Amino acid sequence: MPGPHGFDIDSVRQQFPILDVEINGHPLVYLDSAATSQKPQVVIDAISNYYARSNSNVHRGVHTLSQQATDIYEETREKTRALINASDSREIIYVRGTTEAINLVASTYGRQNVGEGDDVIVTAMEHHSNIVPWQILCEEKGANLKVVPMDENGDLIMEEFDRLLSDRTKIVATVHLSNALGTINPVKEMFKKARTVGAATLLDGAQSAPHMAIDVKDIDCDFLAFSGHKLYGPTGIGILYGKYDLLSQMPPYQGGGEMIASVTFEKTIYAELPAKFEAGTPHIAGTAGLGAAIDFVNEIGLDNVAAHERTLLDYSIERIGSINGVKLIGNPKHRSGVISFVVDGVHPHDVGTVLDSQGIAIRAGHHCAQPVMAHFGIPATVRASFGMYNTTNEIDRLYEGVQQVFEVFG
Ligand code: ALA
Repeated sequence: MPGPHGFDIDSVRQQFPILDVEINGHPLVYLDSAATSQKPQVVIDAISNYYARSNSNVHRGVHTLSQQATDIYEETREKTRALINASDSREIIYVRGTTEAINLVASTYGRQNVGEGDDVIVTAMEHHSNIVPWQILCEEKGANLKVVPMDENGDLIMEEFDRLLSDRTKIVATVHLSNALGTINPVKEMFKKARTVGAATLLDGAQSAPHMAIDVKDIDCDFLAFSGHKLYGPTGIGILYGKYDLLSQMPPYQGGGEMIASVTFEKTIYAELPAKFEAGTPHIAGTAGLGAAIDFVNEIGLDNVAAHERTLLDYSIERIGSINGVKLIGNPKHRSGVISFVVDGVHPHDVGTVLDSQGIAIRAGHHCAQPVMAHFGIPATVRASFGMYNTTNEIDRLYEGVQQVFEVFG
């Protein structure tokens, strides 16, 4: 389903310089975009140009460079607002990444609103970053962490979600797209139900943001977290979106410069949004890179990316799933971006090493989702994850690479 501007894989690939690199004497096949995506030249240039021409601190100086840096910083906030269809750019808070965004919400909104005997609901397919902050909160408050189970395909059991919801539920925090299985969860439906019991909702969009358009008004989440580095931007910069009224009522996460209106030793008045949550000198270069990444993704079109990646996903399920001795893990109804598999008799780390010797980068391990591994009764999987630059030829290379694994391990 080509979008209005079409999708030309060759011209997309030309924009990613790392794709010309050879690994162990082979052209790189990068199938680890769920861990971090590769960066187009425009993102690399935006960061480099920022340091070469505009480097200064934001919101602090009247001098020209400081104003330029502030413009870059605030323009990216506005681009982010538009990307996720938020109402107001003050609802966009810069953080280091998804993990920090979730910790921020747990430590502020969570501490303020979750009490003894209350429930926080997550799902069985969360990344550790959407489990541990809630566990810390629940332990501190004497609250309960409830988990929506999944079935053998890796789909949530929605009847169980309905059963867990109650007037004790204060927060429902769920992953949009599972990093280990690729499952796309019915988050709109889940959040609608959560609202009926008055629970706040948090969407972990770390994996979904690079693969599909996220509209916070349509999904109607209270909070959304995602990372720049999976969206073709730099590491160390991410986004917390929160509804204005909620963010306004939340206490600050960190104290320091930039987040204050006035300070005396007796009392500090906090700054308005978004500064209240942006203590200290932020990752300004990161926002330059993220702004370029958002422009880049908009130019290609997330719909085009999604259609291309669907082809890759279908092809990889068929091709890798057809190998004798390979078992695909999870078969969710709606999925994107990722296949996970195990190879009979060979540890995923060994599979990863053999593939690496052929220039193929995959991730082997528990993918920071140990409960998912426990559900399927395995310690780890091999995960191939896709970005806009991957091709079906690369999946053929993966297929041949797995055959090589059988040759090496007999
Ligand atoms: N959460 C990232 C992954 O799934 C790092 O690989």
